[in-house]
Amino acid sequence: MAKIAVIGAGYVGLTTGACLAHLGHHVTVADNDKNRIDDLQAGRVPFYEPGLDELVSNVTKTNRLRFVLGATNASKDAEFHFLCLPTPANNDGSTDLSFFEAGISEIASVLQPNSIVINKSTVPLGTAKKVQEALGTDGIFVVSNPEFLSEGNAIKDFLEPSRIVIGSCSTEYSERVAGLYSNIDAPVLMSSWESAELIKHTANAYLAMKLTFVNEIATLCEITGANIEDVTAGIGHDPRIGSDYMKAGPGWGGSCFPKDSASLAQVARSFGFDFTLLEHTIDLNQKHLDRTADKIKQLVPNNSKDKRVAAWGLTFKAGTDDLRYSPSIEVLKRLEAQEYEISAYDPTVKDTLMQLPLIEVTDSPYECINDADALVILTEWDEFKQLDMEVVAQSMRSANLIDTRNLYDKNEMEKIGFTYLGMGV
Ligand code: UGA
Repeated sequence: MAKIAVIGAGYVGLTTGACLAHLGHHVTVADNDKNRIDDLQAGRVPFYEPGLDELVSNVTKTNRLRFVLGATNASKDAEFHFLCLPTPANNDGSTDLSFFEAGISEIASVLQPNSIVINKSTVPLGTAKKVQEALGTDGIFVVSNPEFLSEGNAIKDFLEPSRIVIGSCSTEYSERVAGLYSNIDAPVLMSSWESAELIKHTANAYLAMKLTFVNEIATLCEITGANIEDVTAGIGHDPRIGSDYMKAGPGWGGSCFPKDSASLAQVARSFGFDFTLLEHTIDLNQKHLDRTADKIKQLVPNNSKDKRVAAWGLTFKAGTDDLRYSPSIEVLKRLEAQEYEISAYDPTVKDTLMQLPLIEVTDSPYECINDADALVILTEWDEFKQLDMEVVAQSMRSANLIDTRNLYDKNEMEKIGFTYLGMGV
């Protein structure tokens, strides 16, 4: 079994480290954040990801997983070095590689001959080649091995992936990296660095485009009286189209789709290619977020500045505590700008929000709706499907429901007494 260093104990690094240790490897995960390492050494996972705390605890007991402060302390004894560092967006959509480059500089002096540096962070096309040039060609090899982990489902996505993508300039290095995954039953796709990097960006941009398409059709359904749930079921049965990523919603968000779509568009521009389809996808998602906020504003106009909106769901989707580029926050910002009073409830968010300091975060969905003129459901947590909506309707000042995830049936809600608006239904 291999000796592995994982640089970065964020969501991707920690999942990667714990899963590789679960597969039998000896893994050291490093981070420069002392509090984070202290937490992990004390058995605390510093974010919400279902099953990860249990997995970390189990593999830590086998001594195959440990946590250290500082990348060199992990890399000095390892053969494989996974880079799992943040690659956020710059204002122009390009990728900020400063954390990533700092990590490489940190480990460069301790890398042993014949080591493999594996890039898991999402980076623009051309990055692996530049890293190889920076590290030199004398016995240290760079391999691109993008992650396809979806928050809330990360462990399953790692251990039962739809595919493993490995890009390098030599089959020999790719095969050494493929060997790390030999206990996983999945197709291994080997390619060049550039193709592996483009596969990652293309996957996220394609899914974002698919969702924008569905959200546009949902709007057309509203105008024409068709029903998006029927339309997506009708096309999803066609295996060429497929039924995943077909749920109309408030607009897509999260730490990956917005940043990766913008980065791919920027990569295309840097090569002189105007990727109009992708640029429009990004713009249309912003328009869709506007449209979602407009639904609430039109149903409950705030002309006298006395309207109160209750929001269920703050994270960018169910199953996570991640608020980055959350459509919920985007929609609520648009309401805050119109001086609505806003109360919110989310199963994983309990603190006041930096992005929305004026909104009141409550402890229960029922407390949240007191005196509300409208309830907007923004994420698809199971908890929101199991509430007594008759009690909810009676507790509100006015029973207006904007269900941006189509969790409830329009006819049933109207029977209870709600004025109901869904997405494309
Ligand atoms: C996404 C990809 O799905 C992962 O494969 C990828 O590895 C990851 O980015 C990454 O690059 O690290 P994630 O950001 O966790 O994963 O989010 P998704 O579950 O894909 O959802 C993205 C957005 O689309 C959310 O706002 C979600 O609510 C929305 N969505 C998704 C819909 O509105 N409808 C759907 O049917 C599916």
